[in-house]
Amino acid sequence: MKIRKKIVAGNWKMNKSVSEASELVGHIKRGLHDCREVDVVLCPPFTGLAAVSEAVADTSMKVGAQNMHWEKDGAYTGEISAAMLRDLYCRYVILGHSERRTYFGETDQVVNRKLKAAIEANLIPIVCVGETLEQRDEDKTKDVVQSQIENSLVGLDKNLGGVLLAYEPIWAIGTGRTATPDQAQEVHDFIRKVLTGMADKDTADSIRIQYGGSVKPGNARELFGQPDIDGALVGGAALEARSFVEIVQAAAELVTGQPTGR
Ligand code: 13P
Repeated sequence: MKIRKKIVAGNWKMNKSVSEASELVGHIKRGLHDCREVDVVLCPPFTGLAAVSEAVADTSMKVGAQNMHWEKDGAYTGEISAAMLRDLYCRYVILGHSERRTYFGETDQVVNRKLKAAIEANLIPIVCVGETLEQRDEDKTKDVVQSQIENSLVGLDKNLGGVLLAYEPIWAIGTGRTATPDQAQEVHDFIRKVLTGMADKDTADSIRIQYGGSVKPGNARELFGQPDIDGALVGGAALEARSFVEIVQAAAELVTGQPTGR
């Protein structure tokens, strides 16, 4: 079995001014002591990217954006291209977050265009998938997730462009209601089977799948202990240094087997 390095990313959504972002990164840096056992990614809004990139330049933390446009440049008022993100030292970009799908009408086809542009620009995409509560209650979770993955990742080569996936059940986002570790593991395992159908087994085994949806210090350890949960995409708990640091430490402790950095 492949060893996949855990990855914890903070999705700050539409929160934090530039000065608040700098302050938060300062606290995270002090709390983490440059933890290298886990990949740590901070995803501020566009306006915070420059300050956060500069602040993490002397650490192993990386910076990600929350969205991008698929075109390289041109008359697309209000949009940001992959090259512009690279220019600000972004390494990652979140694509197809459920909030973008729900409030901004992003479809799998749009996600696919953005994904291809991100890969071409050498950004590491984090593609989000997940079902609504209604879909779960109707037992459609696997169908929904499979179709989101197959349609969002269509047309990539056999290594799937180094993509990362995030399983974020919509009913667990910002609700305080987390999927149980078993529920999340079941879907992550299924996602890996879907990937096996699309790529060679080595690739499917090496793709990291993050869980997102009310991840907190109190539930992170158990989630990270599941065989196919390779990290977290954290919303609310990433807005506060202490809780974010504790989530990263929970992942690091699984690697080292002992408490880190406290
Ligand atoms: P919460 O952690 O606030 O539930 O948000 C999850 C999320 O949407 C991360 O992308």
